[in-house]
Order: sequence, then C-alpha cells, then structure tokens
Amino acid sequence: MLIAFEGIDGAGKTTMSTRLHKELLNRGMNSFWTTEPTDGPVGKIVKEILTGEMEADKRTLALLFAADRIQHVVEMEPLLNKGSIIITDRYLLSSLAYQGLDLPMEWVREINKWARLPDLVIYLDLDPEVALRRIGDGQIFHSLNTLRAVRSNYLSLIERAEWSSRTVKVDASAPEEEVFRTILNIVMMKLEGIQ
Ligand code: TYD
Repeated sequence: MLIAFEGIDGAGKTTMSTRLHKELLNRGMNSFWTTEPTDGPVGKIVKEILTGEMEADKRTLALLFAADRIQHVVEMEPLLNKGSIIITDRYLLSSLAYQGLDLPMEWVREINKWARLPDLVIYLDLDPEVALRRIGDGQIFHSLNTLRAVRSNYLSLIERAEWSSRTVKVDASAPEEEVFRTILNIVMMKLEGIQ
C-alpha cells in the first residue's frame, strides 16, 4: 500500500508522515518512509533548482519532478509487490498542485502517467498564513500568494474523480496529537479494509 502525504509547505507533512511510519513499525508492520524530491541524482538537481543554486525553466523543472518520480516508483515497486507499506512525504498531487500553477494541468498529468496512483492520500489542509508562521526562519520556497494558489489547486484537485475516492482531507490546524490520531484512524481503517 502506497500512502502519500500532501499539503502546502509547513502543513506538517514531514512530522505526521514520520510519526505514522514509526507507529506502524511499532505495531510490527513492514513500513518504509520516503520523500520527494528524492535523494537520487534527479532529485538532487531538483533541490538545487529549488534553492536557486541552478536555474531552470518551469517546464524543465516539471519534467525533472516527473523523472525523479519515475525512478522513485521503480524503487518502490518491489517493496509494494511484497506487501510493504510505503509512506511518501509528497507525491504526484504535489506536481499537479505546484507545477499546475503555471503550466497546463493536463500536460503535468500526462508527463506523470508512469506514476502509479497512491492507494491513500492524506491531504493536510492548512491556511497558508499559519503555515508560513510555522515555518518561521526555515526554508521557504514560496510566497504567501503562491501558497494560497497551491492550496486552492489542492482543494479543487481532491474533488476530482481520480482523487476524491482515495484522498482524505485532514484539518492540520488542530493540535499535533489530535491530527496524528485522526491520521492513524484513517490509515488503520484503510489497512483493515484491504486485508
Ligand atoms: P519539500 O522538500 O517537501 O519541502 P517542504 O518539506 O518544505 O514541504 O518540497 C520542496 C518543494 O518542492 C515544495 O515547495 C514543493 C515542491 N514540489 C513541487 O513543486 N512539485 C513536486 O512534484 C514536488 C514533489 C515538490
């Protein structure tokens, strides 16, 4: 089972996805945690572009995110076929929500056609102002206006047929413990459903 965490920067994806991973391990499950952009060669180039060390056209960046994801999926596949649980901090919806801001959404979807759909998406929904306050002096790649547009993309994407059946929207403004309990319930219900 592939579980993807999605949301704007600062929504708490990393905290929640790593907590979930540890909890599943504690319960004796075969869980793996991973993230996009990856630490692979293409992911490294993506990170250099995000931090401004390297320049690239938006189309180039979109193709790099997609290429990084293809490699990621190739590495995941054997584990998934063995019945492992993979938790990924960002996946395909990130490309649709972020690259879809400046590029035709259909094209971004098309270049990502090799990425298998996740079985479950936990979309952490948060007001961008709260998210930016949370990030504080941390690495901020986007302005408030951009994050507002990304959030609105996420909110409309998860209503689409391709995503609505596999996505659960979680209010990420609640206290950490409460958000985590909600996520754990959702995941345990999903896991029981497929057994
Ligand atoms: P990430 O390392 O997840 O940052 P954070 O932990 O702060 O959320 O992702 C870095 C940036 O890359 C983030 O701003 C979102 C962006 N991104 C895309 O634009 N498209 C994508 O497909 C992915 C995976 C990430």
